[in-house]
Amino acid sequence: MAGQKQEVFERDQTVGDALAKMTRAFAAEGIESAPRDARILLQGLLGIDGTALLTRPEQLLGDAAERVGDAMRRRLAHEPVSRILGVREFYGREFIVTPDVLDPRPDTETVVDVALEIVRANGLQSEALQIADIGTGSGILIATLLMELPHAHGVATDVSGAALAVAQKNAECLGVASRTSFIETRGLDGCAGPFDLIVSNPPYIAAGDILGLEPDVRDYDPQLALDGGADGLDVYREIAEIARNPQRTMRLVLEIGAGQASDVTDIFISAGWRPLKQRKDLGGHVRVVAMEIHP
Ligand SMILES: C[S@@+](CC[C@H](N)C(=O)[O-])C[C@H]1O[C@@H](n2cnc3c(N)ncnc32)[C@H](O)[C@@H]1O
Repeated sequence: MAGQKQEVFERDQTVGDALAKMTRAFAAEGIESAPRDARILLQGLLGIDGTALLTRPEQLLGDAAERVGDAMRRRLAHEPVSRILGVREFYGREFIVTPDVLDPRPDTETVVDVALEIVRANGLQSEALQIADIGTGSGILIATLLMELPHAHGVATDVSGAALAVAQKNAECLGVASRTSFIETRGLDGCAGPFDLIVSNPPYIAAGDILGLEPDVRDYDPQLALDGGADGLDVYREIAEIARNPQRTMRLVLEIGAGQASDVTDIFISAGWRPLKQRKDLGGHVRVVAMEIHP
């Protein structure tokens, strides 16, 4: 298997040669995104953009040779590119990613889109909104919403203190930490509300399905970020109970797993919430559901 070969790059090897070699090795390992992964790894490791990579293939690896070899070995062991580089782009901004947090997924940008649509449709974009992000992980949702809504304040919760430290660092890098509280807790336990908007991408994989996930996910994303209990819906049940006696209108935008839309909607309707909208992903699965509840 390609992943078991000792790959070595030399200082006088060209970038174009390294790109071709990495692409071939990733493809041989069955990595679908082989050309893209090779390109992004080299750009990140060499500190150059895509144009420089493609228009100056004759430049030499130099001091980066060892790092390139190490990155190639890690990707061949199915470590995601963003984990190797330690950063991931989300909603056009760069976020630090460590082993303590879920590797943010592009689909999660839809949570931000739907939340902003709801805020704008209700004319709330200039209000001092109170926003909560349950299970914040790397903090992508709360930090992005606070960047987009400069008058809003946020509470970010997570059961993982290590994840919260990453979220705080990302919020500091983006300049929104002074508008965010980071609280280690389940759901919103112990958090002072009321909240106008709650967002969450909770763990939603059924516990018994975790072993069958792709190695890029199963071996690298934290268990706490994946395991949604026996049927994958445990944290949705927790979140639905948050607003038993709402003090003001609350809107909620949730990411869900493929095929969970009707179960999740039923859980929230039983707790008094009203469905507001749904959004599908590119694969045609409902990926985001939004609800509201009134006093
Ligand atoms: C799927 S990850 C999402 C992280 C981030 N929001 C994102 O979209 O990339 C879920 C996060 O929820 C946290 N978590 C799991 N159960 C929780 C609970 N009951 N209350 C709060 N956070 C929880 C995990 O530690 C993990 O960081």
